[in-house]
Amino acid sequence: MANILVTGGAGFIGSHTCVELLNAGHDIVVVDNFSNSKPEALKRIKAITGKDFKFYELDILELDKMDKVFKENSIDAVIHFAGLKAVGESVEKPVEYYHNNITGTLMLIKAMRQNGCKRIVFSSSATVYGVDNPVPYVETMPTHTSTNPYGYTKVMIEQILTDVCASDPEWSVSLLRYFNPIGAHKSGLLGEDPNGIPNNLFPYIAQVAVGKREFLGVFGNDYDTPDGTGVRDYIHVMDLANGHLCAVDYVLEHKGVEAVNLGTGKGSSVFDVLHAFEKACGRELPYRILPRRAGDIAWCYANTDKAKEVFGWTAKYGLDEMAEDGWNFTKNNPDGL
Ligand code: NAD
Ligand code: UFG
Repeated sequence: MANILVTGGAGFIGSHTCVELLNAGHDIVVVDNFSNSKPEALKRIKAITGKDFKFYELDILELDKMDKVFKENSIDAVIHFAGLKAVGESVEKPVEYYHNNITGTLMLIKAMRQNGCKRIVFSSSATVYGVDNPVPYVETMPTHTSTNPYGYTKVMIEQILTDVCASDPEWSVSLLRYFNPIGAHKSGLLGEDPNGIPNNLFPYIAQVAVGKREFLGVFGNDYDTPDGTGVRDYIHVMDLANGHLCAVDYVLEHKGVEAVNLGTGKGSSVFDVLHAFEKACGRELPYRILPRRAGDIAWCYANTDKAKEVFGWTAKYGLDEMAEDGWNFTKNNPDGL
């Protein structure tokens, strides 16, 4: 069993992954500045697992403090979730996004290098496939364009980590390209808790279901898709969390860099997600058709062969379970964590 540093461990995907790491018997050290999360998430990880862990409230940009974390703990590998993730906000605040995500990662790499830790699992995104590649997305496709600064931070960090590997064959890097994570932990204690008005489909529907928002705005019903709405590869956050266990095992035993898609390989439309949520909460939810959202594409789903081959991992849960677990969390925590 290993000692894993988890940056951004209080966030949505990080907190669920911490649960799975602890349940698998790993030790974890969590770092977060709570810029998009709450301390309550850490209490809930402890409540679910019955296990304790070290936590540092700090910004990964602070190299001295990050260096101290490595000096005080013997870290075998890092899972790097910490980053800003709102696509629209990244267009408004490109400098803040590039600084937090890219400089933050550079500081993390420096702290790792200073302490001889050379294994990292990075939270990348399907957004690196840009707008020109055909679906399903395969890891060998070119990834050098994006439609927004957030997407470019992922493209650039993948490049930086690839270059680090090329410069030093001791490094081991896993670039995990997530598709659309939704759902929540079965306990109803952990889930997605966005600040303000949700940008993403699933938390928005959840807020309509608890009466916080009047209706869902469907961004376009004239795409070239079966029902005209955008198609995405939604993946249960616990499946995603499990993918990280495989990635950690992989970087502990191999060197070099691998990019791996974490998706289900199945596309679902906006209406598919809405209807699954309606089934889970037992009533119809109001929606209105709105114009397309800038930067959106019609189709996005994964080819999942490489995850199966390299990690022996496949997603287990379908859309109904994602909706049931997401609703269970929202109904138990209507005001979030
Ligand atoms: P999140 O915002 O819930 O979690 C990110 C965490 O990082 C938060 O707890 C935040 O407080 C922390 N953080 C941000 N900047 C920090 C800094 N400088 N120092 C310390 N902590 C910092 O987001 P999430 O949905 O859990 O996403 C985790 C990662 O996965 C992100 O890198 C995101 O870009 C990536 N990702 C997410 C999605 C998605 O749809 N949720 C899709 C693809 C990729
Ligand atoms: N949508 C709506 N109404 C809403 C929100 C979304 O109709 O209120 C639609 C979108 O147009 C899209 C689909 O629902 O067709 C999914 O939208 P999301 O915002 O939930 O997710 P995206 O696929 O746009 O983006 C997500 C993450 C990004 C990541 C990308 C690829 O937010 O960070 O997946 O991994 F880059």
